[in-house]
Amino acid sequence: MIGPKAIIHLDRLLQNLKHIKEHIGKHELMVVVKANAYGHGAVPVTKALAGAGVNWFAVFTPEEGVELRNAGITQKILVFSRLNQEYFHLALDQNFILNCSCLDDLRELKAFHEKIGKSPEVHIKIDTGMTRLGASPEEYPEIFRELKEYPEIRCTGIYSHFATADEGDLSYAEYQLDRFKKAVDLAADYGITFKHVHLSNSGTILNLPESYFNIVRVGMLIYGALPSDEVPEDVPVKPVMEFVGPVVNVRRVKKGTKVSYGGVWSAQKNTNIGVIQTGFADGFPRPWYDGGYVLYRGRRYEIAGRACMDQLMVDFEDTIPTLGEHVLFFGDNIHGQLKVEEIAKSIGQTTYTLLTAIHGRTERIFI
Ligand SMILES: Cc1ncc(COP(=O)(O)O)c(C=O)c1O
Repeated sequence: MIGPKAIIHLDRLLQNLKHIKEHIGKHELMVVVKANAYGHGAVPVTKALAGAGVNWFAVFTPEEGVELRNAGITQKILVFSRLNQEYFHLALDQNFILNCSCLDDLRELKAFHEKIGKSPEVHIKIDTGMTRLGASPEEYPEIFRELKEYPEIRCTGIYSHFATADEGDLSYAEYQLDRFKKAVDLAADYGITFKHVHLSNSGTILNLPESYFNIVRVGMLIYGALPSDEVPEDVPVKPVMEFVGPVVNVRRVKKGTKVSYGGVWSAQKNTNIGVIQTGFADGFPRPWYDGGYVLYRGRRYEIAGRACMDQLMVDFEDTIPTLGEHVLFFGDNIHGQLKVEEIAKSIGQTTYTLLTAIHGRTERIFI
């Protein structure tokens, strides 16, 4: 198919896994494969990781979990989204672990158990400072008391999520870690010990080992990108995704020729303008046209004018690119290396927004 391609290097994914495991030591890993494995293709990514011994996966919706089960994934799957009674039967059927994030959730689980005599497995999510889902500190005592009184609710874990783990200043993350530890201690005072305790994410894998507990959650780092430019680059990961698009047209234009919408770019000299069949509807980060470039045969070429919905133009200067050959938007291939982190920084976005944006007509090819 002619058009953009996301080439997914599963070999690099497994290398990244190996390096992350070496870094965290004996702790178990829970790999976050929500949002189509951060744009990389949930089923092939999860299969590769399961084959390499990963026992835990996290998705956001139960539907994402069903996709994995249908593909033969038998490992544990935690569903991050707010618990809903609509999920209970499905969770029992599919052996999902649900997210219990407040007293109301707990009471729904109790009511369900009283009605049908079963409860899906859950992990308690507590809020330690992210202020998204998670029980608030005022609810902790009541939650722990009810869990103790009602062991039929199969609560096997406790977790929370960092808000600032990828920032240079770790004081807020340390505050969250402290709150988390205190909550786990408080649970112990109520006679509850959790089999699974998890808090860490990519940022804290790199900068806060005290947050590992017994399971370490990882998303971005395993896909070979850093969560931000403020974390130490201590784990030698490689980009799993290579995002490329084909040259479909080349023309010679005269100095002063305007290119693309708005006519905001014009040729500084006579030059070759190539049309690349990839646009923002495929996930190309549109703001990157301003000061942005692509790589072709080891050289940088400036993006000429605004990226369009389906195509973008490149100033190839005196090079005549071969029709059908691909230019590199980001990743690492024979053309060179262009880090998604560089683009994210330049256009004020994050590696998360850029990778999960890959969609539309982009074909994923798994290596
Ligand atoms: C609850 C939770 N845990 C872990 C992660 C993984 O974070 P990261 O990709 O920074 O490792 C996410 C990602 O958004 C998340 O929402």
